[in-house]
Amino acid sequence: MSGFSFYFPVRIKFGVGLWESLGEEALKFGRKFLLVTGKKHLKDTGILEKIQESFNNYQCDLFIYDKVPPEPPYYFVDEGAEIVENNNIDAVIGIGGGSALDVAKAIAVRCKLPNSIWNYIGADKVPKKGIPCILLPTTAGTGSEVTRVSVLINPETKEKLSVASDYLYPDLAIVDPYLTLSLPPNYTAYSGIDAFIHALESFLSLNNNLLTESISLKAIKLIYNYLPRVYKNGERINLREKVLYASTFSGIALTLTGLGAIHALAHPIGVYGNLPHGLSTALITLPVLEYNLEILSREKLILLGRTLGVFSLRSAQEKIIKKIKDLFDSLEVKLGLRNYGIKYEDLPLLAKEGLKSRAIKTNPREINEEVLLNLLQKAW
Ligand SMILES: [Fe+2]
Repeated sequence: MSGFSFYFPVRIKFGVGLWESLGEEALKFGRKFLLVTGKKHLKDTGILEKIQESFNNYQCDLFIYDKVPPEPPYYFVDEGAEIVENNNIDAVIGIGGGSALDVAKAIAVRCKLPNSIWNYIGADKVPKKGIPCILLPTTAGTGSEVTRVSVLINPETKEKLSVASDYLYPDLAIVDPYLTLSLPPNYTAYSGIDAFIHALESFLSLNNNLLTESISLKAIKLIYNYLPRVYKNGERINLREKVLYASTFSGIALTLTGLGAIHALAHPIGVYGNLPHGLSTALITLPVLEYNLEILSREKLILLGRTLGVFSLRSAQEKIIKKIKDLFDSLEVKLGLRNYGIKYEDLPLLAKEGLKSRAIKTNPREINEEVLLNLLQKAW
C-alpha cells in the first residue's frame, strides 16, 4: 500500500423516509423522467403509485420502464435508452435492486452514445457524460447506487461483464432503509452477503489504501454483527439501517479499489447455475479466502481478525474463515456448488470465464486459470 487517488462524485442522502423527497430532488434535474425498476416490488408495495402522484403534483412527466429482470441482459439498456431519446427525457431514476440500478445508470450514458452498451464493456470505454441519474436502492447489497460500474449479461455468449466508467456515477443516491423493509429473508441474506464480500474483497484488493480500508472494515463489522439479526427480524428498521449503511460503505470501497477472485468466479457461477448473485459469491468465498489469506500481511491479518472477533494471531487464517462460515450458517446458506446443479465437468469452463473478469487484476494474490479451476473444485 502506498499513495492513492480519490474521486467520488456522488451526493448521498441517507435516512428513513427520504424516498418521499424524490419528486422534489428530481426537479433539480429537469421535468421529464424515465423511472427504471423491476417488474413487481414498487407496484406491490404501493410505492410506485405514491411516486407517480408526487410527480403529478409537481407537473412533471414520468415514463415508467418496469421490465428489468434480475441479471439483466444488455439489450434492456439499449431499449431504455431508446425511450429516453424518443421522449427527450431529462434524467433517469432507478429504483430497485442492483439490476434496476445498473440498467438505469447505463441507460443514462447509453442515450448519448451511438452503439449498443455491450460495445462499452470494460474499463473507461464510455467516452462522455450522459444525462443526470438518481438512484434509490431497495436492497442492502450491491452498493450500485454509489458505484461506477454496471454489470450486464450477454445471453448469447453467456458472459456476465461490466461497464466501468466515472461517467456511470449517479448524480444523487437516495438511500432509505424504509425501501428495504419488504425484502424477504433469503434475499436479505444474499444481498447482505454480497455487501460483506464487497467490503472483504475491497479490504484485500491490491488497490486498497488507508481510507478505503477503514470504510471496508466498518462495513465488515456492521454486516457481521447485524445481518443475522436482520435475517430473523426483517421488520426492524433500525437493524435494516445498519446493514444499509454497510452496503453503501461497501459500494464506496469497492468502486475505489476493485474486487477480487470471489467476484471473478461468482459471475460465471451465477450465470451457469442461474443463482442470485449474493449466493454465488458465498459459494466460492471460503476457498478463495483460504488462498488469499495465506499471503496476507500480519498487519492486515490483525485488522481483519479483530473486526471479526479473532484476537490471536495463532491460526488466525483458519479462525477468520471459520467466522465467515459461521456467518453463512447463521443465514442458512448451504454451501457446495454441486448442490446447485453445477456439474463438475463445467468447472474448467467457469475457470476460463472467471479469468476474463477485471476483478482478477486487483486480487491480492496472483491468479491463473489453473488456480481458478482448483478453487472451483474445492468449492464444488
Ligand atoms: Fe457483488
